[in-house]
Amino acid sequence: MPRARTIFLETFGCQMNQLDSELVRGQLGALGYSFTPDASAADVVLFNTCSVREQAENKVLSRVGRIGQRKRQGERVVLGLIGCLAERQGMPLLSRYPQIDLLCGPGELDRLPMLIDNALKTETVDAADRVALAGNRSRRSTTLAAVDDNLELLDLSRAFDPDGGSGRARRSAYVRITRGCNKFCTYCVVPFTRGAEVHRTPDAIVQECRRLVDGGVVEITLLGQTVNHYVYTHGAAIGVNGQEVPQVGPGGSAFTRSGPHPANGQRVTTFADLLGRIHEEVPSLRRLRFVTCYARDFGDDILRVMRDCPRICRYLHVPAQSGSDRILRLMNRGYSCGEYLDFIDRARDLLPDVSIAGDLIVGFPTETEQDFEQTAHLLRRVRFKNNFIFKYSPRPGTTAWDRLPDDVPTEVKRQRNNDLLALQSTISTAVHAEQVGRTVEVFVEGVSRKGVPTAPGGVELAWERPRGRIQMSGRTAGDLITVFTLPQGRTPESLEGQIVPVRVIEAASLVLFGCLEASTRPLAEQMTVVPKGDGLRPRLPSLKCPKPLTLHLD
Ligand code: 5AD
Ligand code: SF4
Repeated sequence: MPRARTIFLETFGCQMNQLDSELVRGQLGALGYSFTPDASAADVVLFNTCSVREQAENKVLSRVGRIGQRKRQGERVVLGLIGCLAERQGMPLLSRYPQIDLLCGPGELDRLPMLIDNALKTETVDAADRVALAGNRSRRSTTLAAVDDNLELLDLSRAFDPDGGSGRARRSAYVRITRGCNKFCTYCVVPFTRGAEVHRTPDAIVQECRRLVDGGVVEITLLGQTVNHYVYTHGAAIGVNGQEVPQVGPGGSAFTRSGPHPANGQRVTTFADLLGRIHEEVPSLRRLRFVTCYARDFGDDILRVMRDCPRICRYLHVPAQSGSDRILRLMNRGYSCGEYLDFIDRARDLLPDVSIAGDLIVGFPTETEQDFEQTAHLLRRVRFKNNFIFKYSPRPGTTAWDRLPDDVPTEVKRQRNNDLLALQSTISTAVHAEQVGRTVEVFVEGVSRKGVPTAPGGVELAWERPRGRIQMSGRTAGDLITVFTLPQGRTPESLEGQIVPVRVIEAASLVLFGCLEASTRPLAEQMTVVPKGDGLRPRLPSLKCPKPLTLHLD
């Protein structure tokens, strides 16, 4: 019997990439490949790459350099780049880095097994047989039906193995609802690397959620670059077998404040409908989340479904990017700061306890101190629970790269980045502090890596914990990271992937500290059936907390 070929797969970048890697893993595993965590032991090394900032690309290219050294020393290993960097840089990568054997863009991943097979079998294969990129010739159809969209098969072929993976890996899953992006923000490569918006059919999405939950999944995160743009027009995109197929998305004009308005009275499934369907039709799903939201085109219909469905997490990741109207216009974001705030106010009116996170870019071309101050003001006004803050990185091929010189000096970008991190840290601490004394439901992800998280800006948070006791880490429904001490007599495995009640004792900018309220029993025993619509809810027996632990902020 020939030895199974081994693959090392490393993933960079966003949740979309993590999901792509999971699907690639399933697809290649089904074909007989095995996976190794050791790159030096693998027959095939794959990097699933990110292109959103230059730094992310450089990280991968330094890995590529190392594999090049190994190959020059005579090692036989196939090196493949998949994902956004492969798509963005394309063929020139092969001449710059001859050690790369194959390239596969994120829209072509269904062709990856064929590319690997070619590269393994043949010493010298034509470039045409080891490259799959969308390039300019998008595989997407220009009609509503994205019938050429074989990529759907990759999502549909997902493995549903309740015994596959462990802990959180098995209990928390991503489900794609939309691929690509139609927004074309001037700084962003995503519309070029992932192509136009394509929406999957509601039935395929609901079925995937159901099968994941049947396989033991507790929490599902729906993925799309702009999830609230999800809308599916029924009857408009039918495949050869008479079934509905993925379809390309409408423009922004299809959306109003109360939700999308269907053209010519056609039946549509909106994002709000989709959330409601999953909540109703998958009653054993304990937590339903979604990322990323786009502040415009987010109707009250979605907020109302979130309000009415208790298992939909009241959490919104809704990047503002800037607080200056001038910069937002240059970014082509499609909303003003006032409109962004209007959305936040609507969300808080309907969902007073909603937890809001965002992304911000500092040092966008022409950004002045005054623009920057407006962003800082936005931060204070919204009271985000956290923000991912990025220094502008010019990306070839984007409008900003072509038209706007990168004129904010590196040192100024660094300073603004640090200033915003410090401000956000103060705000996050206050937001977290509101939870002290409450009991929160925590989805346990695993053993806290350090037990001592590092705050942005390098501030060390020392959590005085009982010596030798393991710290567990998880997230609340509002996505607040929560750390608690593993009770004596419990193993980490007995809690991983479960939702447990934790009494919050202390708060820091990045994390809540607390103690487990109860001797938590296996998940099935925690559930109690409640009337239709509410699905399963945990019973929360209460126990006394030990004496409060101390938090040092150096
Ligand atoms: N430079 C810096 N940050 C960027 N992002 C996207 N493109 C760039 C860029 N060229 C950030 C945005 C986005 C997040 C995923 O990455 O804030 O929301
Ligand atoms: Fe990029 Fe803008 Fe699309 Fe987000 S909405 S993926 S920032 S183009």
